[in-house]
Amino acid sequence: MEPTAEDPGAGSCAVSAPLPGQTAKFRLERRGKVVEGFIINVDGSHRAYVNRCPHAGTPLDLWPNEFLTEDGQHLICATHGAIFEPRSGVCVEGPCPGAVLEALVVEGQGPRLVVRCRN
Ligand code: FES
Repeated sequence: MEPTAEDPGAGSCAVSAPLPGQTAKFRLERRGKVVEGFIINVDGSHRAYVNRCPHAGTPLDLWPNEFLTEDGQHLICATHGAIFEPRSGVCVEGPCPGAVLEALVVEGQGPRLVVRCRN
């Protein structure tokens, strides 16, 4: 059965779609462990990532749901300042250039979306 916003299924969760330029946090369960993630609306397109920096493994946000650079154009890790391209999750500046945030799958359209793990 395909996951829906009402019944997202295992390894998935339903999230409210953030507005353009905004982010939202969520949690889902993967193989019995809770995984924290966040979703970003990039010009109407949604991307979701695990909230774990590839540099040292800390959450990106020290202040809850603070993922964006001051100009709102990139994602930033608060621990050592790694900058990530929001569409690809690739680090473009900082201590881990080329490292990539772990992407999650975003499904659906409208105000309710489903986010699920890739594996
Ligand atoms: S832990 Fe994110 S930049 Fe170091």
